[in-house]
Amino acid sequence: MLVLGIETSCDETAVGIVEDRFILRANIIASQVELHAPFGGVVPEVAARAHLTQMLPTIYTALDTAKVTLRDLDAIAVTYGPGLAGALLVGVAAAKGLALAQSLPLIGVNHLRAHVEVSQLETGELELPLLALIVSGGHTSIVRMNADGSFTELGATIDDAAGEAFDKIARFIGLPFPGGPHIDRLARDGNPKAFDFPRALAHDGTYNMSFSGLKTAVVRELRRMEAAGIEPNLADVAASFQEALVDIQCQKVLAAAKAEGLDRIVLAGGVAANTRLRAAFTAVCASLGMQLIVPSIPLCTDNGAMVAAAGANLLARGIQSDLSLATVPGMSLSA
Ligand code: KG4
Ligand code: ZN
Repeated sequence: MLVLGIETSCDETAVGIVEDRFILRANIIASQVELHAPFGGVVPEVAARAHLTQMLPTIYTALDTAKVTLRDLDAIAVTYGPGLAGALLVGVAAAKGLALAQSLPLIGVNHLRAHVEVSQLETGELELPLLALIVSGGHTSIVRMNADGSFTELGATIDDAAGEAFDKIARFIGLPFPGGPHIDRLARDGNPKAFDFPRALAHDGTYNMSFSGLKTAVVRELRRMEAAGIEPNLADVAASFQEALVDIQCQKVLAAAKAEGLDRIVLAGGVAANTRLRAAFTAVCASLGMQLIVPSIPLCTDNGAMVAAAGANLLARGIQSDLSLATVPGMSLSA
């Protein structure tokens, strides 16, 4: 069974092709990073227009890469939320057109669930239940993936998403958008203990997180140094900020895993590409004898393969959408 997955929820026009739920045949991304860079963030209208021009070429490149034609496909999967309204519309319209023209099943996919399920392309069938940390530009939550494949949110950020915090701090110190990978690189030469930035909600007894105070503390420290005529060591600032963010996520995830009696953890979403986050979880899971599943970096950030994989799972369970499928920009994890 070949499933083609379309992802246009934000600024990547992405198409993946997955065979028999676990075999990755193609994963093509037309990135819009350079288009949005001058604005310091994603401009929804620009994203939607770029999706329009990139959609068909990306689909055909994915088909060529997988060495298949439209006639070989068994289903079309598409992200229908959460995401930018105009951007989602382009992907969903393209998916409907393909499904209709080829008489194929259409499968609407929840972007957040797809970030978790993409792991199956590298590890095979995910053993359930498990605990997942979903950390992206617009979303940060700790979820339990239950034995029946449903998701239960245990905690979430109460303000900024982790990726948003990375991007805002990067912007403040003059790094390009998206800032996460730039902070990651800068932090490699820095001392993570140089600044003791706050770990908010560390002892509140919930699995919620908060990053806006951390962001403010970093900005305040930089302004204080500037006023005092001190040249900041930006690598130290980046490393200390990143350490605080990773530290609190580790603490919260481990507490949730312990309370839920789960010893399998999946890291998912764009921020799961972060070197320090991956290293910290690798070390702590090894020391506690827990299984850690982290997708390779191209499968962490937005991609079409994750949509194809999640769509293939739904298809296997007999779940399909129909041509009335509507976009749901504010979709929650449980949808
Ligand atoms: O999952 P994703 O590609 O898109 C959304 O669904 O939001 O995540 C994008 C986010 C951005 O905020 C980006 O800065 C962040 O992931 N990111 C990183 C790294 N790579 C991407 N953050 C920290 N370190 C990285 N290496
Ligand atoms: Zn994402």
